Amino acid sequence: MASSKFLLLPLALLLVALSFVPNFTSASLEEANALQKWKASLQIPNNSQIVSSWTPLPTNTSVPTSCPSWFGISCNADGNINMLNLSRSELKGTLHQFPFSILGNLTHFELSVNSFFGPIPPEIGLLSKLVYLNFSTNQFSGVIPPTIGKLSQLTVLIFFKNDLTGSIPRELGNMNSLIDLELSHNQLNGSIPSSLGDLKSLNILYLHRNQLSGPIPNELGNMKSLTELDLGSNQLNGSIPSSLKNLISLQILNLCVNKLSGHIPQGIGSLQLFRLVLGKNKLSGKLPDDLCQGGKLQRFSVSENQLSGHIPRGLWNCSTLIRVRFDFNQFHGYISNTFGVYPSLKFFDVSHNKFHGQLSQNWGKCKNLTALKMAYNKISGSIPREFGNSIKVLDLSSNHLVGQIPKELGEMKGLLNLNLSDNNLSGVIPQELGSLHGLLTLDLSKNMINGSLQRYIVDWVRINHIYLSNNKLSGKIPSEIGKLSQLNVLDLSWNSLTKEIPSEIGSLKSLEMMNLSHNKLSGSIPNGFSNLPRGIHIDLSYNELRGPVPVYAAFLNVSGEALQGNDCLCGNVTGLKLCESQIIMKKKNHFHHKLILVTIVPLFAALLLGLFMCGLIAYRRRKRTSPQNPSGEEGGKFFSITSFDGQAMYDEIIKATNDFDDAYCIGMGGYGTVYKAELQPNNLVAVKKLHSSSENDDHIGFLNEVRALTNIRHKNIVKLYGYCFHARHSFLIYEYLEKGSLKSLLSSDITARELDWLKRVRIVRAVANGLAYMHHDCTPRIIHRDISGANILLDSDYGAHISDFGTAKLLKLDSSNWTAVVGTYGYIAPELAYTMLATEKCDVFSFGVVALEVIMGKHPGELISSLPTLSIDNLLLANVGDRRIPPPSSLVEKLAHSILNVSRACLKYNPHERPTMRQVTELLSVDDRLWMKRHVSVT
Ligand SMILES: *[C@@H]1O[C@H](CO)[C@@H](O)[C@H](O)[C@H]1NC(C)=O
Ligand SMILES: *[C@@H]1O[C@H](CO)[C@@H](O)[C@H](O)[C@H]1NC(C)=O
Ligand SMILES: *[C@@H]1O[C@H](CO)[C@@H](O)[C@H](O)[C@H]1NC(C)=O
Ligand SMILES: *[C@@H]1O[C@H](CO)[C@@H](O)[C@H](O)[C@H]1NC(C)=O
Ligand SMILES: *[C@@H]1O[C@H](CO)[C@@H](O)[C@H](O)[C@H]1NC(C)=O
Ligand SMILES: *[C@@H]1O[C@H](CO)[C@@H](O)[C@H](O)[C@H]1NC(C)=O
Repeated sequence: MASSKFLLLPLALLLVALSFVPNFTSASLEEANALQKWKASLQIPNNSQIVSSWTPLPTNTSVPTSCPSWFGISCNADGNINMLNLSRSELKGTLHQFPFSILGNLTHFELSVNSFFGPIPPEIGLLSKLVYLNFSTNQFSGVIPPTIGKLSQLTVLIFFKNDLTGSIPRELGNMNSLIDLELSHNQLNGSIPSSLGDLKSLNILYLHRNQLSGPIPNELGNMKSLTELDLGSNQLNGSIPSSLKNLISLQILNLCVNKLSGHIPQGIGSLQLFRLVLGKNKLSGKLPDDLCQGGKLQRFSVSENQLSGHIPRGLWNCSTLIRVRFDFNQFHGYISNTFGVYPSLKFFDVSHNKFHGQLSQNWGKCKNLTALKMAYNKISGSIPREFGNSIKVLDLSSNHLVGQIPKELGEMKGLLNLNLSDNNLSGVIPQELGSLHGLLTLDLSKNMINGSLQRYIVDWVRINHIYLSNNKLSGKIPSEIGKLSQLNVLDLSWNSLTKEIPSEIGSLKSLEMMNLSHNKLSGSIPNGFSNLPRGIHIDLSYNELRGPVPVYAAFLNVSGEALQGNDCLCGNVTGLKLCESQIIMKKKNHFHHKLILVTIVPLFAALLLGLFMCGLIAYRRRKRTSPQNPSGEEGGKFFSITSFDGQAMYDEIIKATNDFDDAYCIGMGGYGTVYKAELQPNNLVAVKKLHSSSENDDHIGFLNEVRALTNIRHKNIVKLYGYCFHARHSFLIYEYLEKGSLKSLLSSDITARELDWLKRVRIVRAVANGLAYMHHDCTPRIIHRDISGANILLDSDYGAHISDFGTAKLLKLDSSNWTAVVGTYGYIAPELAYTMLATEKCDVFSFGVVALEVIMGKHPGELISSLPTLSIDNLLLANVGDRRIPPPSSLVEKLAHSILNVSRACLKYNPHERPTMRQVTELLSVDDRLWMKRHVSVT
């Protein structure tokens, strides 16, 4: 044994001597070869410096180089590789083949900004000399190996932006030298180990954007050197430990977007913080008094918590503030006494609190202010003239501001977003706002702004969104609006805009949403709309538009709601009447010979009979004998077809309607357009200009029909005064009813509220009476074929009158195929789809729909088909009744329920099971008599 020791010693000495030879040490050669192997496992771009510089080393040892001159590698004095920095090298691969055991002299190891994936091997703990380790911005996954805790010399550990999971190993608390620990932007879970409190040298601790849960350990208050603590965007709960006030070096504290509750501890405000961010938690109670006592606070946010009380006085003088957020809390107080002048302030948001009082002029002194948001408070008074000219975003919406928009706002040339909506502002939009050339969003909706939109809007060259709805704007929409090429949203709804929609709106290439509803816009839908893209959201409802809905791309999938409330609009859209042209087309398909009549007869009439042949109908006006009783036989005016002078009549109507000017249009029906004509002062009639009238070759027969219809006198049927035939225009002359159609009354919340339950019951009964009269008391019987809410007209006392009665018969529209066109979608009896034969029972069905509509306040829609199977108990007023009006007295409620039951019977699928109109009137009045009896006996 002893001799072998003697033999080994010289050998060892020889080896030591050899190692001092100044060339490639065996160690660095081994290191380099091992790295070559690892490199071979990676995907490296062809043009990478690694490809070009990491060449195989010469195998002879006579080269006097101490370190391979490879990209990203350097060696220590001994020739050992001590730095490996392959940051931003577009590398992809894993660390599976990385030679941890060989590169034991590595002090700096950086692979940041590459595409490394897979786990960080536990062998990383072998790199015992490591001082700096940065694997940030890769796709490393798996857990952080606890062996990292062995790297006692490590000062910087950066793993941010990877896909690391699992919890933070408590062994990290052993790394006494650590100064900078950044594990943010991973998927780490579990709680924060309290051992981190042992990291006495730590300056920076970034754990934000993980899924860490549990409380913030009290021990973190022991990290005396900490300057930056960011735990934001996790799921931390519990309260903010008051030990954090011991972090005397702390400058940045970010705990935002967690589930922290409780109070903000006193003492934190006294730290020398320049950033304190606690937003989006569940913090409650008042703010600590010592806020800004450290004197350095620049960024402060407590937004989206449940904090309340006043803003501490200390903040008044906090002149260092740059960015401040109090939004979405319950702070209150008089706003002008709460905030001082902050010369560096850029961003200030107190929206969604309960501040009251008037805005101070001080905001104008914050010269660097770019965003001021005070929406959803109770701020009153007028808008100050100045907010500093740097301002880009000004949001004072949903407050109680009054007065005019100051014209000085036009001096804030950098303004991008101005939101003053939902206040009580009045006056006009000052012309000076036209100089806001950079404006992107303007929201002045929900105020009382009047005046018209001026042409200066073209100066808003970059604007994306204009919201001016719910104001009192009048006048026309300026055609210049078409120049706003960046406009995405135009909302001018609920104003009093008039005249025609400028065709130029069609040139708004970026438009996605246009709401012009609830105005008084007239004329037809402009040609320019043909340029609007498909899929754009358009709402033109409740205007006075007329004429056909064009077949432009923008209207391909338009809903009935987007066009409703324009009584003179027609087209193949649910809820609208078909247009004249569409009806003629429909006819053409089925009646070739009639088409010839439609076109030839007027031509002949014009040629042979001269300019006109009116004179079939004459007009005689009787002096009103009893104004108290206008509905009596003697009252009012009427037309007789037996009297004379159709020429005078014709001329008078042409004059009264200004040759059927659109301005006199009050509606559009299946057979024609309706105009209002004042023949003599206070003597109004409705004139229905027929789409096509001259197909009646049998004039004598036709006249007899007209005569029969004009002889009908029933208080629930609109009176037909007469008819005038002319080569140019043919028209029917009807009684004029002030309140317009049931459909339009029910469609507006305001007018629907005027229709109380008793009025509604009376309307349904009146319609039933009128129909029963026509079905059972006239010879021959007359079928209406188009009973709908649009054909029930109301007089000034809300008395209901059925209009268009007999028109179908009159115009010989009784050919079977016609019926499908004549009815209104949603009211047509199902059998018409296959029998094509209109019977009284079709009218009964339509009546059932109208009766339900009156009770529900809207078209019953799907309910119609489910009704026969619906149990009586579900068909209660409480379930289906119009909620816009208060519930009826129990007596009226009973009457309303009988209507519901009757309409149920009327909507039976099998026409033979439906009652007749005579039975309907009896069913409705039986209840009435019962009610009367009981009512009388009770009282
Ligand atoms: C890189 O080089 C290899 C081998 O020369 C070649 O097959 C490959 O297409 C190259 N890749 C690119 C992106 O140029
Ligand atoms: C050793 O390196 C020298 C210098 O580069 C070279 O000239 C020589 O050929 C090499 N010897 C062998 C065996 O590769
Ligand atoms: C690694 O290289 C990048 C530049 O590619 C450099 O910014 C970074 O400081 C280096 N890291 C170390 C530890 O030297
Ligand atoms: C560092 O290099 C020296 C000299 O080559 C060597 O003896 C030592 O083993 C290396 N250290 C580690 C931890 O590999
Ligand atoms: C206002 O902003 C400018 C530009 O950012 C800056 O140079 C200046 O110091 C700021 N003024 C104050 C009082 O902070
Ligand atoms: C109305 O539109 C429907 C479906 O778009 C179509 O089938 C029908 O023929 C149209 N009717 C008329 C009269 O154009």
